[in-house]
Amino acid sequence: MSKIRAAITGVQGYVPDYVLTNDELATIVDTNDEWITSRTGIKTRHILKGEGQGTSVMVTEALKGLLEKTNTDPLDIDLVICATVTGDSIFPDTANIATYNTGMTNAFGFDLSAACSGFLYALTVGAKMIEGGTHKKVIVVGADKMSSIIDYTDRTTCVIFGDGAGAVLLEPTEEEGIGIIDYQHHGDGSGEKYLYLVAGGSRKPATVDSVMAREHFVRQNGRPVFKAAVTGMSDVVKKVMKRNNLDSDSLDWLVPHQANIRIIQTVSKMTDFPLEKVMVNIHKYGNTTAGTLPLCLWDYESQLKKGDDIILTAFGGGFTWGALYLKWAYDGKG
Ligand code: UT7
Repeated sequence: MSKIRAAITGVQGYVPDYVLTNDELATIVDTNDEWITSRTGIKTRHILKGEGQGTSVMVTEALKGLLEKTNTDPLDIDLVICATVTGDSIFPDTANIATYNTGMTNAFGFDLSAACSGFLYALTVGAKMIEGGTHKKVIVVGADKMSSIIDYTDRTTCVIFGDGAGAVLLEPTEEEGIGIIDYQHHGDGSGEKYLYLVAGGSRKPATVDSVMAREHFVRQNGRPVFKAAVTGMSDVVKKVMKRNNLDSDSLDWLVPHQANIRIIQTVSKMTDFPLEKVMVNIHKYGNTTAGTLPLCLWDYESQLKKGDDIILTAFGGGFTWGALYLKWAYDGKG
């Protein structure tokens, strides 16, 4: 009997309507389009506006679109894993809210927190639930409303991040070679000091003082994170390529986390990948944290072909990082 693997059988993204341009940011903080474009590659990012609008709004839209596109009955979904660091609240989890909103009453769901590597980790967990034979239809979604934890008086972070969600449907396949084949993930808690939120968790719950000190916003020391991201992603991509006897000629696509165009270009160089094979959409959405990888797959879906060899890689707060190798399961649509 051939091995059961998990295959991505559909992908859908959602970004909010409001587009925040570099020029608008230049009216808020001391920055300009030239600096942002040359240092990050970002031109615009989408922002979820409106009172009471949490990440579940974007997750719900992505899930609805995915069900419709793949002609899937919500009652057939077994599990939804939502990678996010900006859930609607500490609990209940956003996956649970979104399954309710979309009528997935036979599904259970949970959130997974691994910052920008969240989608990659969640995809791995979802794949294992399918491979185990107990789950037939699993949705993995990466979503973040970064605008809810970004300090729009801090020019070093506010130009980088945006809001968005992307979801994939995973189903079992026994077709030779198709599906999620291999992965390698890492974590290193010593990276905490470079990218973190000071308050709002159990270590330092919210107080009037913590709000006044702006401790509920992302703090980042960009340079060490940049270096670790380049090294981490390049090394892990090379490892996964080597043990699967792949090289940049035989691979069809590299899907890197979208944090900075210079990081993407350097990783592409260090792994010997020509840029034409590297998915890039950072100019449109900025860094949507757990949303970047599925939003790339969504944007490039029409170009993908059955049998394409693809490596996804991510790096994020924690530090967390990893790479996953899959063979695409269908000819492009969307
Ligand atoms: O997804 C999670 C992981 N995160 C990442 O991967 C992010 C990794 N880091 C980065 O992408 C980059 O480090 C940044 C985009 C955050 C910063 O770019 P950089 O080239 O490393 O700039 P820098 O921090 O070294 O700052 C250079 C200069 C500084 O001015 P001085 O000290 O040289 O006078 C900054 O104050 O640029 C200044 N600067 C800005 N100038 C205009 C910083 N932000 C801005 C800005 N507009 N928005």
